[in-house]
Amino acid sequence: MALGGGVIGDMAGFAAASFLRGIPFIQVPTTLLAQVDSSVGGKTGINLAQGKNLVGAFYQPAHVMIDVATLSTLAEREFLGGLAEIVKYGVVLDRELFLFLEEHVEPILRRDQSVLTKLISRCCSIKAEVVARDERESDIRAVLNYGHTLGHAVETLTGYQQYTHGEAVAIGMVAAASFSELCGFASQDDTARIRNLIQRLNLPSVLPVFTAAEYMSALFRDKKVRDGGITFVCNRGIGDFSFAKVVDLHPLLTSCGIGE
Ligand SMILES: NC(=O)c1ccc[n+]([C@@H]2O[C@H](COP(=O)([O-])OP(=O)(O)OC[C@H]3O[C@@H](n4cnc5c(N)ncnc54)[C@H](O)[C@@H]3O)[C@@H](O)[C@H]2O)c1
Ligand SMILES: [Zn+2]
Repeated sequence: MALGGGVIGDMAGFAAASFLRGIPFIQVPTTLLAQVDSSVGGKTGINLAQGKNLVGAFYQPAHVMIDVATLSTLAEREFLGGLAEIVKYGVVLDRELFLFLEEHVEPILRRDQSVLTKLISRCCSIKAEVVARDERESDIRAVLNYGHTLGHAVETLTGYQQYTHGEAVAIGMVAAASFSELCGFASQDDTARIRNLIQRLNLPSVLPVFTAAEYMSALFRDKKVRDGGITFVCNRGIGDFSFAKVVDLHPLLTSCGIGE
């Protein structure tokens, strides 16, 4: 039984996948991020000194058990970081969820248990549905990386010190929204609504100041680079998505206010 946040879930899941070539295990996630993201979907693993998630296995838990009451003791930044992943599901996969978030900011921020239960169960269903269609991320599962491409660059450039993962993803989503607008997938109003929701949830929304060259080198170090290009997840309006293969990232960075 993996009782704890995403680190415990990933580690215990990997141990369960390896011991005797696999024993059943149960996820009991206690952080918001683990409840809406890492405990569902079967990605398990550990980090090596050489890099994140270098060793691991796809191994599904027999069961995921979530008690939202555990969230009452979670640190505020950890809680807000989990909200960023919830916003992600709304922006690219579920318009109704996005509208629900817009209308419930206040009860969400005071951790109203019935609102959180609704949100968490919706996110688990969405993730389970995506993973059932594409467990090993050969195509559609990549939609869950929305906001993560630039988010990872932000984490790398700031040495994993300044932002939590969820905060970096929030910044990455606002950038992805601007880029989607630039590509013609979304309107100015969509971008404004996404930025506005993220700000109301007390999450950061502006890319930290680094040069375009620094962003490019961080982006191209990402393992998802193929044939010199990056597959970027865009929002199509709000609630749907599109993949865009991006080779030249300057227009994207310029649209987010990053200069040479
Ligand atoms: N497997 C996947 O699909 C997947 C997806 C996303 C992230 N991850 C991984 O998940 C990890 C991040 O997970 P996380 O955000 O849960 O971080 P975490 O596991 O480090 O937990 C964050 C902190 O909260 C504490 N904590 C946990 N539950 C608590 C509670 N109920 N009350 C008070 N404190 C509590 C923990 O002790 C820890 O200090 C990363 O290692 C990331 O790589 C995996
Ligand atoms: Zn994430």
